Amino acid sequence: ATGDLARRKLLPALLERESEGVLPPRGRIICTGHQPMDPTAFIDAVLANTDPSDAAAREVFRERLHYVCVDAGNAASYADLAALLTDPGVVRVFYLATAPRLFASISANLSAAGLITPQTRVVLEKPIGHDLQSSREINDAVGKVFDENQIYRIDHYLGKETVQNLMVLRFANPLFERPWTSADIDHVQITCAETLGVGGRGDYYDHAGALRDMVQNHMVQLLCLIAMEPPTLLDEHSVRDEKLKVLHALKPIVDGAVKSCTVRGQYGAGAVEGAAVSGYLKDIGQPMSGTETFVAMKVEIANWRWAGVPFYLRTGKRLPKQCSEIVVTFKPLRHSIFPESFGAIGPNRLVIRLQPDDGVTQVTTMKAPGSGRMALVPASLQLNFRDATDWRVHDAYERLITDVIRGDPTLFMRRDEVEVSWRWIEPIHKGWQEHLVRPIHYAAGTWGPSAAIALMERDGRSWYEDGMPAGV
Ligand code: BG6
Repeated sequence: ATGDLARRKLLPALLERESEGVLPPRGRIICTGHQPMDPTAFIDAVLANTDPSDAAAREVFRERLHYVCVDAGNAASYADLAALLTDPGVVRVFYLATAPRLFASISANLSAAGLITPQTRVVLEKPIGHDLQSSREINDAVGKVFDENQIYRIDHYLGKETVQNLMVLRFANPLFERPWTSADIDHVQITCAETLGVGGRGDYYDHAGALRDMVQNHMVQLLCLIAMEPPTLLDEHSVRDEKLKVLHALKPIVDGAVKSCTVRGQYGAGAVEGAAVSGYLKDIGQPMSGTETFVAMKVEIANWRWAGVPFYLRTGKRLPKQCSEIVVTFKPLRHSIFPESFGAIGPNRLVIRLQPDDGVTQVTTMKAPGSGRMALVPASLQLNFRDATDWRVHDAYERLITDVIRGDPTLFMRRDEVEVSWRWIEPIHKGWQEHLVRPIHYAAGTWGPSAAIALMERDGRSWYEDGMPAGV
């Protein structure tokens, strides 16, 4: 609980849920860390870092919080924690926001301390390993003491409002679901762009890189939700079974495709949103590194629905703006009745924005208003969730933590999903090493190496950037 994720995300998310009155009345939040600390000072520090607006909720929250020092790898040090957990009849959630190398020993030590009851759940933060073998080892070790239905592998992208809305958009609106095949869709782009650099996470990041940090989990999950068949029911088995089928259908990127279908980049010094920033090597304090902070790739899904429809993925740090979005581009008209002099007819697109300004934009062609000669212009139909609803957009962790307490694993990754995803990612990483594909330099504040633009241009397409036409 002393780590970055707990401070920035988990504890504030729990306080939000407190304000909304959805935490169980007798629930406690027992924070652990490997440093001995004065519990009151720890709790004061937690509250100092949260939204001060709801004083009543903060007081209730303060009462729930405890701090216990636990040395994760030392079985003897779990005694103080065990002393607090005396009622076997309640739901216990152990949230492991730790380095994954500790997952196995923590699970074993929780079991040795007699803390795992049938009502116990464990949450595993990503990354679950760094390749297929290491993810299997972690899953095996955790699986020795927890049943699969007790294990919640979190991917916080699945808790984002728009990501959940993706399923509703697709499966509650025939308008979108009917043309959702290769017959009508030309291609799909998924962009997760960040303005931030690696910050204080250089040590972790330099061993991971963008492919493992973002693509293996968040982006692949988005791809699955866009591409999956309608699940029979909206339950944990049906949804995850359908995602798994997409993962199995991903065309392997091997041999020559590693070079032709992927682009690796690493940011150098530059300027982001008007401020000068240093390059990656300076940020991690190393003179050299072969780790990518940017990836673009062309992915194909070898099944009936998607044959011939490329999915272009790109993600990177120190890009010009913070934005995650999915752009579905529809095929052009088969025949136009409008002479070219009326203006170009651009493709219809559905832009699904995850952040910022969660919402959906439909890019269409309309008649320019006015009584002059007929002219066609691009126009957008926009739905901004913030405007459309009077409630705030919840942080992903708020939803997901509540799902664990409720015992709903639908939005968490099953073991097979994680492993099949690693099986697909691993050859790309290996291919980069074997074919000596080193990251290409890009200046911070740009959209990555020009090779990423060329990746789409070779197919006669381009990335959708700032392309949102003004509303009519
Ligand atoms: C995390 C990655 O999983 O997701 C980070 O480890 C990344 O490197 C983050 O910055 C992005 O999440 P979000 O919600 O800010 O898009």
